[in-house]
Amino acid sequence: MKNIVLIGFMGTGKSSVGKILSEKLGFKFIDVDEVIEKTTGMKISEIFSRFGEPRFRDIESEVINLITKKDSQVIATGGGVVLREENMKKLKENGVIFCLKASENVIFERVKGCKDRPLLQVENPEERIKELLNRRKPLYEKADFCIDTEGLTPEQVAEKIIERLRDGET
Ligand code: S3P
Repeated sequence: MKNIVLIGFMGTGKSSVGKILSEKLGFKFIDVDEVIEKTTGMKISEIFSRFGEPRFRDIESEVINLITKKDSQVIATGGGVVLREENMKKLKENGVIFCLKASENVIFERVKGCKDRPLLQVENPEERIKELLNRRKPLYEKADFCIDTEGLTPEQVAEKIIERLRDGET
């Protein structure tokens, strides 16, 4: 079975949905940010502050390369994975890509106060979210399917994904 890949902006629920989905499907769950933190022994915010975003993106691509060698996994990516075309190409080769969507307001409510998202440690995080979302929108739309998560629990989002997968089979 192909991998199920979750992409989408920070705070759209990729990790929580991914965990539930993997249990329902009996797939292994991989959280790309977690793999990065484990292999480097550093928090994402520390990698950003010590080495900068470009180095973080290199590590992220290395991890994508490695994990896409296997299949039957649910992969929750970091929100910026779409920034490099090579990442998306690798993920698509043996995966079905689902983009989780939420409005700017919902995203802001979910991520505010979170100290472990270096890109949002700015004076006006609300404005930053808007700006990043606008820039990344066309990249997220490259997913095979988009799921609107608004008003849904992670469990319900996981069910929606399973429904889509079943529809695809028939
Ligand atoms: C990022 C999203 C984060 C993490 C890093 C960069 C981004 O992951 O990879 O802070 O560029 O959107 P989450 O989407 O899991 O928060």
